Amino acid sequence: MKFYLDTANLKEIKEAAAMGFLDGVTTNPTLIAKEGKKFETAIRDICEVVRGPVSAECISEKYEEMVEEGRRIRKLAENVVVKIPMTPDGMKATKTLSGEGTRINVTLCFPPMQALFAAKAGASYISPFVGRLDDAGHDGMAVVRDIVTVYKNYQYPTEVLVASIRHPLHVLEAAKMGANISTMPFAVYQKLLQHPLTDVGLVRFLEDNKKIPK
Ligand code: E4P
Repeated sequence: MKFYLDTANLKEIKEAAAMGFLDGVTTNPTLIAKEGKKFETAIRDICEVVRGPVSAECISEKYEEMVEEGRRIRKLAENVVVKIPMTPDGMKATKTLSGEGTRINVTLCFPPMQALFAAKAGASYISPFVGRLDDAGHDGMAVVRDIVTVYKNYQYPTEVLVASIRHPLHVLEAAKMGANISTMPFAVYQKLLQHPLTDVGLVRFLEDNKKIPK
């Protein structure tokens, strides 16, 4: 499974890249707003650090404007993926832009059938938002399981990019289900790496090391 960071923060991106765990980055307007940079600058800066795909979101709502914006975003860097919301206009824009060879990440996916529409429109990635589904009292990971099954049944090449991840269990479940990618905040990356027994074990080894005659 590939690991993406869901952030626009360069410090976090560089830290994850240094550990060798960074296959790509996803952003959204909320994450970019936190960095206090212009959209284009933020995306170009990230694309310079990350080799893998970097999702940058369209904010237009109408088909023609989405296509125009998507073409502009596409030119920002070689590894940019255009993020399009799961709306009827978004599906039309996905069909047009993917037909031109632009990779599209369809975002804000909730029920599994939306994912089937996105795949049929030519999306390279589908982003089910598991945390927001859980927050609303639904089972986010059940949606991921259904999408993985449906894509497998019909052999769609669209990659399942599990988004809105809140904790390490979401990532483990995604891996067990065979989802292609998990995108997560830096805090979840850190939690995945840590365990109290690792810390306790390390303290004991360091203490015992002092007892070894030098
Ligand atoms: C994915 O591409 C989105 O940016 C993201 O995962 C949304 O997560 P949130 O529900 O934590 O805002």
